[in-house]
Amino acid sequence: MAVHEIKPNIYSVGAIDWDRRLFDELIPLPDGTSYNAYLIKGTQKIALIDTVDPPKEHELIDNLNKLRINNIDYVISNHAEQDHSGTIPKVLELYQHAKVITNPKCKSLLMDLLLIPDDKFITVHDKDTISLGDKTLEFIMAPWVHWPETMLTYLREDKILFPCDLFGSHLAASELFVQNECEVYESAKRYYAEIMMPFRTNIKKHLEKIKELTIEIIAPSHGQLYKRPEFIIGAYRDWVSDEVKNEVIIPFVSMHGSTGKMVDYFVDALIKRGLTVKPFNLTRTDIGELAIALVDAATIVIGSPTVLTGPHPSVVYAAFLANALRPKLKFASLIGSYGWGSRIEDHIIGMLPNLKVEIIKPVIIKGYPEEEDFTSLDRLADEILKRHKDLNILENEEQLK
Ligand code: FEO
Repeated sequence: MAVHEIKPNIYSVGAIDWDRRLFDELIPLPDGTSYNAYLIKGTQKIALIDTVDPPKEHELIDNLNKLRINNIDYVISNHAEQDHSGTIPKVLELYQHAKVITNPKCKSLLMDLLLIPDDKFITVHDKDTISLGDKTLEFIMAPWVHWPETMLTYLREDKILFPCDLFGSHLAASELFVQNECEVYESAKRYYAEIMMPFRTNIKKHLEKIKELTIEIIAPSHGQLYKRPEFIIGAYRDWVSDEVKNEVIIPFVSMHGSTGKMVDYFVDALIKRGLTVKPFNLTRTDIGELAIALVDAATIVIGSPTVLTGPHPSVVYAAFLANALRPKLKFASLIGSYGWGSRIEDHIIGMLPNLKVEIIKPVIIKGYPEEEDFTSLDRLADEILKRHKDLNILENEEQLK
């Protein structure tokens, strides 16, 4: 990434990773990502906010050289995960007087993960400030977005919030600031779904906390910067709220067509009742798309055939993920099939302890579905409709009468 001046004496000096397609060897990155780092030159001190993933170390160093930076006083570490902290050791090697400013928990992690010595740190606590001369950095503790040590940095005079992962998106783009809010909305929602959703309750509290700040620019550590902070803050308020939408998510696998036929029938049955349905064939789906769908949905119905009396392994993976991401689902059920015996109901329901959901009676059938099985699926669709009605989330009441 080229050096960009955000405001006088405030620069973006990070790196774009156009080609990266997987994060943590787990999360698909269809649009690449960036590791944003920021240099702030005060009249007395110079601070670097976060660094970059180590494979991109040379790009950060090149950018600092382009700005003819001979001295860095402070490296602010908002978050110890290596995609932001991994180049701190290199920066400390090149700028030997630099101190790492962070909170005690982050310091401890940086010492463990990157072997940074104790005497390199200055620790700060909530609302502490550090002066760079004409610029003041304020530190806001915001644990669990998404590690326990995370904090935000606020540049008071310029009204810029540097929230590291929070509000970020895995999106490689040549423009520094958001140009297309629709495109960024999708990337930011994917990012929220995959990384932030399990910490919804914590994020709610942090959103309240930052209400006190006047923010003109949000400069996250992944993706583009926001000149209209209310766009991303508003989206987050929606995602972390307790409100669910009239949506049924159906992650499924079918081996020989029985479960597939059930899913086909069931999808139509739900649509006829005015429900929005999102089926995900787990043999083909991008798991990130499933995560995005889980952000708002009221109901999940998992579809699985039986493999050695248990669920299909791809279904196990999806159920594990849904449980780990802790979406705000209200209802769950299961449809599926078997040849001679099945324990998929116990198995899958047992995998969802984190979901605060009502389990609606599953439909598990022997062999290929027959008329009575379709009747059972209609009954399940009716039960879901009734519950969505009770939540007042149906948008097209008229067409249902
Ligand atoms: Fe972008 Fe949690 O690291």
